[in-house]
Amino acid sequence: MLAIIGGSGLTTLSNLDVSHREVVRTPYGEPSGPVVFGQICGQPAMFLPRHGYGHTIPPHMVNYRANMWALHHHKATGVISVASVGGIRSDLQPGDIVLPHQIIDYTWGRKSTYFDGNGTPVTHVDFTEPYDAELCGRIRAAGEVLGIPMKSGGVYAATQGPRLETAAEINRLERDGADLVGMTGMPEAVLARELGLPYAAINVIANHAAGRGSSEHGIRFESLDEVLQGAMGRVRSVIEKLVGCQDICQR
Ligand code: HPA
Repeated sequence: MLAIIGGSGLTTLSNLDVSHREVVRTPYGEPSGPVVFGQICGQPAMFLPRHGYGHTIPPHMVNYRANMWALHHHKATGVISVASVGGIRSDLQPGDIVLPHQIIDYTWGRKSTYFDGNGTPVTHVDFTEPYDAELCGRIRAAGEVLGIPMKSGGVYAATQGPRLETAAEINRLERDGADLVGMTGMPEAVLARELGLPYAAINVIANHAAGRGSSEHGIRFESLDEVLQGAMGRVRSVIEKLVGCQDICQR
């Protein structure tokens, strides 16, 4: 059963026919909320909103370890992370959907491993390719069936937040090779890897990054809200196809 983690713009999964919710206690504390179970087009799926049901947990306060542990505990076969991001690369426009292929982590102070202390052997997971190629392929296939354009590939920069970046920071991220910027992609992706959970991200460009395009003199999300909601609607359709269509996804 696939798990979907929703971010800003996707705090509920309206096409999930909910059967029940489960509060999970984990060795790492409380997840962002109860895990919601249900069916999409007759196929089982689970959902967890990263920022909580009231959208009150900021990126640096999300208990990423508890969230991923809870999904693993419920036997998720893979995790699709949905998140809004800022676009750095010049061809990325608000409303675009991107499947990133790489990550640069600029976050700090977050609990980013399950292998820390209490007699746990030191463990270094391979993270050369942070996203699961097969799961990304299934997302792409669902988009193609629906005719929903998605840009394949991009380097995701994970920043600490909750503030947005300065224009100079965005210039630095670009020099580092980043194409998009968000605040929640790490340590979520690496914790999934530590648990052996295939993980892929669907990123929606909510705005031009600071100092770029329409954000040259500042970022105003309000004017972009409609664009973001439209794109999240397309993401919901992709997820529906991916989970519900046997040809594309079952395992
Ligand atoms: N920067 C970081 N995170 C974001 C942005 C941004 O511009 N937009 C949406 N999430």
